Amino acid sequence: METLTLNNGTRIPQLGIGVYQVRSADVGPALASAFQAGYRSIDTANMYRNEVAVGAAIRRNSLAREDIFLTTKLWSSDYGYTKTPSAIDRTLKRLDTDYIDLLLLHQQYGDYNGAWKAMEEAVSAGKVRSIGVSNFNVERLTDLTSRAAILPAVAQVECHPYFQQRELKQFLQPFGTVLESWYPLGHADPGLLAEPLFAELGTKYGKSPVQVILRWHIQEGNIAIPKSTNPAHIRSNAEVFDFELTAEEMGRVAAIDKNRRFHRVPEFIERIFMQAAHVNYDKRQR
Ligand SMILES: NC(=O)c1ccc[n+]([C@@H]2O[C@H](COP(=O)([O-])OP(=O)(O)OC[C@H]3O[C@@H](n4cnc5c(N)ncnc54)[C@H](OP(=O)(O)O)[C@@H]3O)[C@@H](O)[C@H]2O)c1
Repeated sequence: METLTLNNGTRIPQLGIGVYQVRSADVGPALASAFQAGYRSIDTANMYRNEVAVGAAIRRNSLAREDIFLTTKLWSSDYGYTKTPSAIDRTLKRLDTDYIDLLLLHQQYGDYNGAWKAMEEAVSAGKVRSIGVSNFNVERLTDLTSRAAILPAVAQVECHPYFQQRELKQFLQPFGTVLESWYPLGHADPGLLAEPLFAELGTKYGKSPVQVILRWHIQEGNIAIPKSTNPAHIRSNAEVFDFELTAEEMGRVAAIDKNRRFHRVPEFIERIFMQAAHVNYDKRQR
């Protein structure tokens, strides 16, 4: 498994498994398959309501805690300098761990600057190793980075060959912030997966279109966290480190960018939802 070095010197596997929309009952088997296939990185969130199952799955396997890279995210209803510390403690408890490898602000709404300051203090306290953001646009990132003592190590956003995030990547470069792709497979969009270029390159390298897409993320320098509960998919998604796209092929993938998101929610609706949603995640594990 290849790793990237973050702007604080810690290392993160370039491929992880995402558990969004995975029910707790399915988390254990999915992570067991993932660990067996060589994954060492897991992406969850308070909002996924499966952190207890993720923590239990990590405890159950035979790997040492320090061999796992665990990412989770705080929901915006827990943002604020006074609110965030207890949200971090509750998160640690649900995950049944002493530290979180990477803690992200899940959304760009609410008192994210207050939350960030509390997250910086959690780093000093050893509860969190790295901190980052998710779904922040350039305007919010400019605001956060102008006040931050610790720059975001990671920016997690929707990213796939039809939405390549060129502008954001350029903005992140001076900060050394790594882009982490959610929806790396476009949430299995049939149009993206049937893109003729991926079939052509897959035939050339003896790989599936999905493997070609994941290889593109790796060579782009992105972190990819495809979700799967299918053991065969989990295995094959990890078999992307034994071939390499040429510069010309990377250029051909760059040329199919359509600036098309698959996750589309108007910002005013998203804002209302994010700020109104106060969910007690301790009681709402599923
Ligand atoms: N920060 C955020 O706001 C945010 C938002 C969305 C997602 N995320 C993170 O990103 C992760 C990935 O996103 P996502 O799950 O929505 O989208 P995704 O990884 O792009 O796509 C997942 C879909 O692809 C299918 N799939 C996986 N491997 C496949 C293969 N080899 N062949 C065919 N189909 C395959 C999965 O089905 P099977 O299970 O049947 O394989 C599932 O339906 C999430 O789990 C979460 O950790 C973060």
